[in-house]
Amino acid sequence: MKCSKCGAIAVINMRQHRRRLCAEHLVEWFMTFTQRAIDKYDMFAPEDRVLVAVSGGKDSLALWDVLLKLGYQAEGLYIGLGIDEELGYSDKSLEMCHRFVSNHHPDAVLHVVDVGEEYGQAVPHLARTRLRGQGRPCSVCGLVKRHIMNRVALHGSGDGGFSAIATGHNLDDEVAVLLQNTLHWQTGYLARQAPVLAERNGLARKVKPFVRFYERETAAYVLVLGIDYIYDECPFAQGATTSYTKELLNELELKSPGAKQQFYLEFLRARDAGKVVFAERASVELHPCVRCGQPTTAGDMCAFCRLWE
Ligand code: AMP
Ligand code: FES
Ligand code: ZN
Ligand code: ZN
Repeated sequence: MKCSKCGAIAVINMRQHRRRLCAEHLVEWFMTFTQRAIDKYDMFAPEDRVLVAVSGGKDSLALWDVLLKLGYQAEGLYIGLGIDEELGYSDKSLEMCHRFVSNHHPDAVLHVVDVGEEYGQAVPHLARTRLRGQGRPCSVCGLVKRHIMNRVALHGSGDGGFSAIATGHNLDDEVAVLLQNTLHWQTGYLARQAPVLAERNGLARKVKPFVRFYERETAAYVLVLGIDYIYDECPFAQGATTSYTKELLNELELKSPGAKQQFYLEFLRARDAGKVVFAERASVELHPCVRCGQPTTAGDMCAFCRLWE
């Protein structure tokens, strides 16, 4: 298998792009394609400070790497969730983020917020005690991550805020969510699923520069560059619906290369052209939480602050 650009040995065949690329041209293409997504969706500009949420996984580390190489002011944020489950999952993930900085970008700034240290309880304990076993840790975890990302993006760590939060969601992630939302006709979610969510009263701008990359493409990128990352999935995510949906979609992609990309991009096009209209939930009033000031729809106190009551 030869590189479509130079004829050297190709490391990846991307059937949906009709391209095979060698290591060097994969890296070049990956960076150009990321820049194109940033421009196309008007995500941020070189003068903006961008907060990259890094989990220690391949997608978010690849994202941070590309943004730094493209010359953006990208700082990392790692949120320590205190997930151990005899795997040392959170410790290992943080270690990967530190290793990434020291091996690849020694000048990069990594902010670390440890939920247990800062707020008194880690996520697994909160999930067990606060929701009385009804909620999976994932829902508490999602809530905590969103709150902390927003807090750091708006206020920084004493050094001013950021223009946007960037996460490493890739095409496989987005398509799985899209299929789940469609199966349940979650029209409110469908209305808001987008590569960019604009800033609005007290909620920082959110961007996903990798929404057009297949997971195997980010995997190839980190492999070629020798970026080490945590291979394990979160121990609580195993058997989750998303994994099953991803398997189904992989089968579909195998039979029909490009199917995932088409499903996602056509969804965005149809919605943005007004061909399909999903009503957002009647505009619910957002007001600042009495305790932390972040916007909430429910009661005086936001869901995050109620966790600690
Ligand atoms: P996930 O929900 O685990 O698929 O992660 C989606 C994205 O959220 C990742 O690509 C990261 O950008 C971000 N993220 C996940 N976990 C963390 C974490 N512990 N700290 C900071 N960012 C995270
Ligand atoms: Fe949050 Fe697994 S990463 S529960
Ligand atoms: Zn080549
Ligand atoms: Zn609050």
